Amino acid sequence: MKFSTISVIVSLATGGSAASAGDWRSRSIYQVFTDRFARTDGSTTYPCDVRNNIYCGGTWKGIENKLDYIKNMGFTAVWISPITAQVAEAYHGYYQTDLYSVNSKFGTVNELKSLASALHSKGMYLMVDVVPNHMGWAGCHDTVNYRTFKQFNTADHFHSYCEIKDMKNQNQVEKCWLGNCNITMPDIKTESPQVAKEMNSWIKSLVSTYSIDGLRIDSVKNVNKDFFPPWCKSAGVFCMGEVSEGLANYTYPYQQYMDSVLDYPLYYSITRVFQKKTNMSDLVVNLASCTENAKNGCKDATLLGTFFENHDNARFPSVTNDMSLVKNALAFSVMSDGIPVIYQGQEQHFAGGDDPGCREALWLSGYKTDTPLYKHTAYLNQIRNHISSTQNTYLTYYSRVLSYTADTIQLRKDAIRTILTNQGEDGGSYTLTTQGMAFTSGETVVEVLSCNKYTASAKGEVDVKMSGGLPNVLVPEGALKKSTMCGYT
Ligand SMILES: *[C@@H]1O[C@H](CO)[C@@H](O)[C@H](O)[C@H]1NC(C)=O
Ligand SMILES: *[C@@H]1O[C@H](CO)[C@@H](O)[C@H](O)[C@H]1NC(C)=O
Ligand SMILES: *[C@@H]1O[C@H](CO)[C@@H](O)[C@H](O)[C@H]1NC(C)=O
Repeated sequence: MKFSTISVIVSLATGGSAASAGDWRSRSIYQVFTDRFARTDGSTTYPCDVRNNIYCGGTWKGIENKLDYIKNMGFTAVWISPITAQVAEAYHGYYQTDLYSVNSKFGTVNELKSLASALHSKGMYLMVDVVPNHMGWAGCHDTVNYRTFKQFNTADHFHSYCEIKDMKNQNQVEKCWLGNCNITMPDIKTESPQVAKEMNSWIKSLVSTYSIDGLRIDSVKNVNKDFFPPWCKSAGVFCMGEVSEGLANYTYPYQQYMDSVLDYPLYYSITRVFQKKTNMSDLVVNLASCTENAKNGCKDATLLGTFFENHDNARFPSVTNDMSLVKNALAFSVMSDGIPVIYQGQEQHFAGGDDPGCREALWLSGYKTDTPLYKHTAYLNQIRNHISSTQNTYLTYYSRVLSYTADTIQLRKDAIRTILTNQGEDGGSYTLTTQGMAFTSGETVVEVLSCNKYTASAKGEVDVKMSGGLPNVLVPEGALKKSTMCGYT
């Protein structure tokens, strides 16, 4: 009897649909920083001073109650902070103490399961942040009491202590410890077969217990690469790793060990080009660094996570409040080849600086949905969702640079042609004749952000009205059928 009961439970738990890389390619991810997204009481006034580095009260129930705010922006997946139990005041979730218990500040096991089913019932995926590199200890490395780490309760589960002195020394980066004497991060010995085995069974159980569809993996460069293939296989879902490094030939090779990495090389390029107005050639070089014949060890640009804000880096508007520049950066990240990842608060034009500044409580915005960037993000996701679901060549079509000048670039990804500029709000009004768009002569072309219409010339080009440095997203009228965009039905 006992055995049969257990096997029924196991088969139900594993009966969910494990989402693969291919399933994720079409998704658009909204990054939630759990402590700062929504409180269970739905407050829009509860104070949260980011400088204090303490919990502000966001919960899984709070997220569940606000899913329509995310869904109505066109997102089809939500990434949440790590869910494991933590040392005191680790509101971000990166100092875990027990892999098998959940962070009670964020809610209960049942509330987390309820969030997963609420997402699934809305057709959205759940991505959970996971930390295979380390545990957390509130004190110096020589005071760690290993018995408190339930599964890894002896020192031999960890590397012996050393400090990372040289970030260029990969052996040190993988084996030495992060942190200091306020908070130290005992470094899990992931190359030990016994430890790897325990990690594999943990991740398998985590994914099935909480019906997780994908993982965001923290501190990937601090873990031995060989750890990942069996681990992600045990998870059985899409794996996207954080390799926080701008060098293409350092970051992209990790894609040979997991489905995807967050595209840090492109992140730096997006911020240089659209925030600091450097030459568009910068973007051209970075786009080519993954697409050309698996250069730099990159495997598949259409699976990389494309972003330009997150909880670790100063927000884009902390440098410039120019609305056109941020609209171009957003248009680029949604229309480019990778999976878009937008961090909570971008849609509210939050402007926080470096961590912890960029971890503002979203509730203080009042969850307004009529803001310029909420609407802009919704339009961009809508066009990507529509084209990718009606044209099966779109998602795997690698973007081509049609032409560029120092401040303007013309791109094509299958049906969608994008004109981006870093001229900013002062860009003025002028007509730009496109180059290399290859529309069908005489066809009507719609710019979906303004709903302006153009007729393609005999050469397949259009004369686009450029205005105030805004981005242009052009598609043939025929591709908009049934889209509900710009009046097409
Ligand atoms: C430890 O925390 C104290 C109090 O917050 C702070 O003043 C000090 O700089 C921290 N030390 C390190 C090494 O971060
Ligand atoms: C990686 O690229 C950088 C910059 O292009 C270059 O300086 C470095 O030598 C390259 N490293 C390797 C291992 O190829
Ligand atoms: C922008 O970059 C291109 C390609 O490197 C170069 O030809 C052009 O002169 C640059 N323009 C400016 C204004 O620096």
